[in-house]
Amino acid sequence: MRSHMPVLITCQTATPPAISLQQLRQRAERLLSLCGRARGELSILLLNDPEMAELNEQYRNKKGPTNVLAFAMQEGGGEHLPEELLGDVIISLDTAAREAATDGVTLHQRVTILLIHGLLHLLGFDHERSRGEAQAMAEREKQLLSQLLTEERRGKMVTLAINVDHVATLRQARGITEPDPVLAASICELAGAQGIVVHLREDRRHIQDRDVRLLRQTVKTKLNLEMGATEEIIKIALEIKPDMITLVPEKRKELTTEGGLNVAGQKKKLQEVIGRMRKAGIPVSLFIDPDTRQINAAHEVGATFVEIHTGRYCDATTEAMRDKEFSLIATAAEEAYEMGLRVNAGHGLNYLNTRRVAALGTIEELSIGHAVMARAILVGLDQAVREMLALLPAG
Ligand code: PXP
Repeated sequence: MRSHMPVLITCQTATPPAISLQQLRQRAERLLSLCGRARGELSILLLNDPEMAELNEQYRNKKGPTNVLAFAMQEGGGEHLPEELLGDVIISLDTAAREAATDGVTLHQRVTILLIHGLLHLLGFDHERSRGEAQAMAEREKQLLSQLLTEERRGKMVTLAINVDHVATLRQARGITEPDPVLAASICELAGAQGIVVHLREDRRHIQDRDVRLLRQTVKTKLNLEMGATEEIIKIALEIKPDMITLVPEKRKELTTEGGLNVAGQKKKLQEVIGRMRKAGIPVSLFIDPDTRQINAAHEVGATFVEIHTGRYCDATTEAMRDKEFSLIATAAEEAYEMGLRVNAGHGLNYLNTRRVAALGTIEELSIGHAVMARAILVGLDQAVREMLALLPAG
């Protein structure tokens, strides 16, 4: 008996593709199911334009590359083969990337659309036969894409990581031992927070080395250490081994982290830090502005996560500005997600502006500090955390 291999992906592009092949496979498998062909077998070949142009000339007598070609196994003498063998979908990533830019969608989304198009051809749809068929095919494409994306996102739950830096800020204001961020972290966890974040700054203005060491022992959920990429702090991270680190730009005079990291401008250095962390088993997140160039760079340097800076959205003073900033965050999160990066977000989120970001479906975790601590002073930390959790969509 043949073993079932639903989707085989072959990538023959000159450089590694800027999309997650694992996610593409999952989408292809799900599409087979949605088309009632869960037992079907499909081969996907990813190419560059020159190879696509050769195939286009050879099989369709047309010059130049095209976006997608589909070869059904049951045609051209393959009619006797098992029905499960659907055939090949061949996609040019160069053409897909150009079309993605024109349509204002991510590369992954464009490739998914081309995959759906190719798969429908394998299943007998043909837009070239008549106007009616073209319309039926376009409608089925739209329906499958929407079903696929809705399902993918519905299954995701957003988690809340609480930044307890400002408990330490209050302690440092008096230079004594209270309030203790370590105790605060435990209260946050008891209230349901799924992670604890602290920023060990070079100037040690709030969190101290002792706090990070104790938190490493007491945090039951996940400890995310925010830090600048300086040698001193890197050594501490490698020794203490938090569950993950988030690299942020750090300036001595700033009140809080101001902008995102310029990943594109320091790829070599970040690649080196990420490599050292990887050896120690510590996943790295890069705190970046919602900007395609930075997302591509984060993917290139091998980050596991990006944390999208929500500050400009939170600080927007008009509805129009807020909508514009929100749409940048939504697009950036989508791009990163579709590249296979894990996506967090944070900075400036409060009880009024969080719900919209949390509902995006592409974001895995929100990192929130100031708003929760400000409310905690008035209503208590347990309640402040619970109220924030109540704003997140349930899993
Ligand atoms: N994420 C990052 C990378 C940050 O630097 C901060 C602030 O320390 C936060 C999230 C939390 O921001 P806020 O305190 O405004 O909630």
